[in-house]
Amino acid sequence: MEDYFKRNHSWEGIQNEELPTDKPFVLIDRNQNVLWKSGDIVEQTVIKTAFPSSLKEDSQRIGMLYVMTPTQQQIYVVKNTWGQYMYGIIALASLLGLSFAIILILLLSRTLTKPINIITEKIRKYEQGDSTINFQMKRNDEFKKIGEALESMKQNIKDAETARKSLVSDVAHELKTPLMIIQGEIELLHIQQKTITNEKYESIFNEIQRLTTIINDLLYLSKLDARQIEIIKEKVDLNDVFEQLMQKTQFIFKKHHAEIIFNKNDVKTIWADKDKILQVLFNLVTNALTHGQTTSKVMIEADNNQNETIISVTDNGVGLSSEDIQFIFERFYRGDESRSRQTGGTGIGLSIVKAYIELHEGKIEVESQVGTGTTFKIYLPIP
Ligand SMILES: Nc1ncnc2c1ncn2[C@@H]1O[C@H](COP(=O)(O)OP(=O)(O)O)[C@@H](O)[C@H]1O
Ligand SMILES: [Mg+2]
Repeated sequence: MEDYFKRNHSWEGIQNEELPTDKPFVLIDRNQNVLWKSGDIVEQTVIKTAFPSSLKEDSQRIGMLYVMTPTQQQIYVVKNTWGQYMYGIIALASLLGLSFAIILILLLSRTLTKPINIITEKIRKYEQGDSTINFQMKRNDEFKKIGEALESMKQNIKDAETARKSLVSDVAHELKTPLMIIQGEIELLHIQQKTITNEKYESIFNEIQRLTTIINDLLYLSKLDARQIEIIKEKVDLNDVFEQLMQKTQFIFKKHHAEIIFNKNDVKTIWADKDKILQVLFNLVTNALTHGQTTSKVMIEADNNQNETIISVTDNGVGLSSEDIQFIFERFYRGDESRSRQTGGTGIGLSIVKAYIELHEGKIEVESQVGTGTTFKIYLPIP
């Protein structure tokens, strides 16, 4: 092309020359005008992608020639066709994907609805009172887990139902005995046409008091269950607590000819609801005296470890058997039925103690040895 220019001193007529190559090319002059091109690729594309070589006459630039190599040509073809068909391909792929998804959903929902129907049917039957229903499913997937969860829920409901029934019977039993005694005494008085003696009066009065205690305790427990009892934790002076406890229990200690010993170590304050902690200690101390039988000394000791205050109440009474230890925190549990009745307990005291300590986010432990004594330890977290 340089020769052509040399011969003619211009580019005029170059388009009429025989094509020098079968590769796509573009020739432009100094002013960027396209003079000659071959192939059907758009000029701008050739200019952008092809190799440029500058054409010169006596070191003067006379134009630029862009020639595409076969590789560049192939890339162009691929890009071009991809551009043309891209939308079509994407649309087709989406359509295929969508139909596949729909088919999959249909298939899945079929396998899903079947076990769901089985489960709902079982729940419906259970609701209607059929407690023989077994929710377990002979499968190996999530439905097996649902079945197991339902089965364990069924078991829990059953346990709660049993507990409710035994609670009702316990309560009825607790109320029946004092009422029978009162009724008997009054009937006897009536039959004998006698006025009431002091002794009879006291006996009746004691039974009525017992009834009142039971009913109050029960009402209180139901409030605890309904979470209507709240605690307000604050810094409480331990000296204050011990002093008030002394005042409240003085007469019982006198009655039992027992002594109380406080050992605060270096604990000055505790984080607690004062009234509730006082009630806890009162319950533990009166238990130590009334149930300990041989108790002559009750020791209350406080100590801090890194994150809790530990208060222990130790007596030197008869102690608890390991059988008793398992149940003492349960409602209405009394170690020795006949003995406890005489001491006037309802078997509720320790369940209230435990509930209170749990409201404090603490815990309670008991250690005991028959014949040696018992220690109750409460742990109160220090914030
Ligand atoms: N310090 C103790 N020594 C021996 N037995 C105890 C002691 N404290 C509790 N118990 C046993 O635990 C039982 C439950 O106590 P509690 O819940 O306070 O009920 P209650 O005092 O009304 O009988 C008691 O009946 C008694 O048998
Ligand atoms: Mg008690």
